[in-house]
Amino acid sequence: MKVLVVLACCLAAAVAGRHPPGRHPLAAYADQGVVPDVIDVAPPAILKVVFGTRPQQVSASLGGELTPTQVQSQPAFSWPNHFGPGPHGPHGPHGHHRPHRKDSLHTLILVDTDANGRTNNTFTREYVHMLLGNIPGEDVSRGEVVFNYVGPAPPQGAGLHRYVVLAYKQPGYNNYTSTPPASRQYFSSRRFAASWDLGAPVAANFFQVQNANN
Ligand SMILES: *[C@@H]1O[C@H](CO)[C@@H](O)[C@H](O)[C@H]1NC(C)=O
Ligand SMILES: *[C@@H]1O[C@H](CO)[C@@H](O)[C@H](O)[C@H]1NC(C)=O
Repeated sequence: MKVLVVLACCLAAAVAGRHPPGRHPLAAYADQGVVPDVIDVAPPAILKVVFGTRPQQVSASLGGELTPTQVQSQPAFSWPNHFGPGPHGPHGPHGHHRPHRKDSLHTLILVDTDANGRTNNTFTREYVHMLLGNIPGEDVSRGEVVFNYVGPAPPQGAGLHRYVVLAYKQPGYNNYTSTPPASRQYFSSRRFAASWDLGAPVAANFFQVQNANN
């Protein structure tokens, strides 16, 4: 009986995308298949994604489920400074007081990786919910909009969709408007990142949403 309860517990935790006790939180990427479906490695830095305003505020939590209502409007994004670890990096004595270097530009992508079904391994399986480029530091409001935010609306009966948010540090200014992605559909953040030389994301997070009538 006890075993059953424990099993039910773990299953519920897995379904909701929460990490079981004792597991490293970043293991959620692999547990939920975000690694390798979207990215090759879990970025060590957490991208903070906060929806709504107090007291209704909710955040992405490496796979935790949110409702379509909660994620309707564009969230606020923030991520640790992009200088990387080091004696004066984010964990250094002055890490939190260091000004952001204005010449470091970032790209922020939010994709539904299950737009063509969670088990469909089509290479270009993603749907872009938001794509912002040339963000100075983490000043998202000054980024260039390639695709503006549209809230997740997974169809009824489709189960949980995984919404993955990725922040990339650009090697320099990228003129995305010169050769924009053809459409929001059949997107591959991996291919996009490769074509613009973005490297691996410097921070990420993900959340899951299902249709309210499921
Ligand atoms: C996978 O997705 C593609 C693109 O939407 C679609 O054409 C194909 O039928 C899907 N395959 C399966 C097995 O669902
Ligand atoms: C980006 O490319 C477009 C089209 O090629 C061009 O019109 C625009 O001036 C470029 N923008 C910048 C900032 O270079």
